[in-house]
Amino acid sequence: MVFPHIYLVLVLTITKTSICVSEGWFLHVTDFHWDNTYTSRDLSCNGVVNTHGVYGDYWCDSPFSLIDVTIKAMKNATIDKAVDFMLWTGDSILHTGDEHLSIDNNIEMLTNLTNNLQQTFPTMDVYATYGNHDYYPNGQYPPHNNEIYNRTLEHWRSWINDSTQEELFLKGAYYTLKTKYGIRILALNTNLYYTSDKITAHMDDPADQFVWMENILEHSRHLSEKVLITGHVPPGVAAEGGKPWFYQHFNTRMVHILQQYSDIIIGLHFGHEHADTFRLFYDHSGQPTMAMYIAPSVTPWRYKNSKATGPKHNPSFRMVKYDRVSGRHLDLVQYYMDLPESNRQGKPIWKIAYTATHDMGISDISPKSMDNFATRTRNPHSQEFQNQLSWRNAKAEVMPCDAFCHSLIFCNFKKLHDHDFKLCLRETQQYTATLPFGRRK
Ligand SMILES: *[C@@H]1O[C@H](CO)[C@@H](O)[C@H](O)[C@H]1NC(C)=O
Ligand SMILES: *[C@@H]1O[C@H](CO)[C@@H](O)[C@H](O)[C@H]1NC(C)=O
Ligand SMILES: *[C@@H]1O[C@H](CO)[C@@H](O)[C@H](O)[C@H]1NC(C)=O
Ligand SMILES: [Zn+2]
Ligand SMILES: [Zn+2]
Repeated sequence: MVFPHIYLVLVLTITKTSICVSEGWFLHVTDFHWDNTYTSRDLSCNGVVNTHGVYGDYWCDSPFSLIDVTIKAMKNATIDKAVDFMLWTGDSILHTGDEHLSIDNNIEMLTNLTNNLQQTFPTMDVYATYGNHDYYPNGQYPPHNNEIYNRTLEHWRSWINDSTQEELFLKGAYYTLKTKYGIRILALNTNLYYTSDKITAHMDDPADQFVWMENILEHSRHLSEKVLITGHVPPGVAAEGGKPWFYQHFNTRMVHILQQYSDIIIGLHFGHEHADTFRLFYDHSGQPTMAMYIAPSVTPWRYKNSKATGPKHNPSFRMVKYDRVSGRHLDLVQYYMDLPESNRQGKPIWKIAYTATHDMGISDISPKSMDNFATRTRNPHSQEFQNQLSWRNAKAEVMPCDAFCHSLIFCNFKKLHDHDFKLCLRETQQYTATLPFGRRK
């Protein structure tokens, strides 16, 4: 009589353990934009500074003190969690003119940040990609070997550590590696497709990255691998400005390739927008198939030019919970630093902006759940949309957002092609006009 009982306990224990073991976390940090001239020349600040706070100023890029406490806060956030790897999606250099920068300057800054991450996370697998600001001259990534790729690899070699992938990095700054739990990472150099890159504008496939990507994805499908895609500049249409970041032929091709492999792609993680947002891919029948998660920046910097001023932004990083076997994305915890409060108190005050499963009314962050949330933001008066507005800038401020502004944000979730996006803007504004003002639902 005793044996069946023991057997049952054993089975329960094993089942419970294996459920826990299959869940892991990863970190995502992006857009440090280190201004090493903060308080001396303020090169990133566009001629305006509020307070020169010890951890930074909304008008300026990150002082070193901010980078330092951010990396420490990331370390803190990993203490009670099984963190399998980190995504670092670039833009480490301040916003300023090329005349203030050089190859040596940019490599020096990149080296410092790399060393910092390696010292703080000595055993962490880090998948690092370049941002448009990391290159010198700004954004002009060439589709071939050059001094910057060579000198970066010297510092990223311990993370890449694979001769085939190192060759690809030297050629086009892209590579693929498998995590220790067998997820395939595709680390892309999408700066090659960004409209600020004058060198690649008329090319079909800069650095042969598209062909390479298709081959890897095809191979992964044969091997039944799960694939996570990471890079700096995201495909699709930016809510701010309402235009795709990529040249049109690149955006079309990228989206097309990704859509063909939605059965093995478990998630896409990008930076560049300095805003917290996401985009969805749909199949022919309108079912959501993939989600792209865009993480907000570390830099609090707001842009300013003769036409417009960007919103304030609190320094941020995030952690994502996923299933190590299926790759399903289970949850997202978004951290931010309350910049004014931290400056006032002279110590960093970190908070959680939201936890997806707690604050978004969804049970995980799968494409289906994200689509469910996105659909609820169609009404600009909805609590979901108002929350999204405050999360966009990591709770620094809720920008006034009229019907046009709402349609830009809503359609950025749903439409990846310029043409579809424009139709969506019109439709959404027509829908909003039918709503009773101020109605909350
Ligand atoms: C990075 O630069 C900062 C500020 O100049 C300096 O204090 C720090 O020691 C450097 N860290 C590394 C790891 O090079
Ligand atoms: C980059 O390094 C490779 C070998 O690793 C070398 O063959 C090449 O000449 C270097 N290129 C530049 C532009 O420094
Ligand atoms: C690179 O990988 C090899 C074999 O997998 C390992 O022995 C070595 O310690 C790694 N080197 C670094 C710097 O991580
Ligand atoms: Zn940036
Ligand atoms: Zn960028």
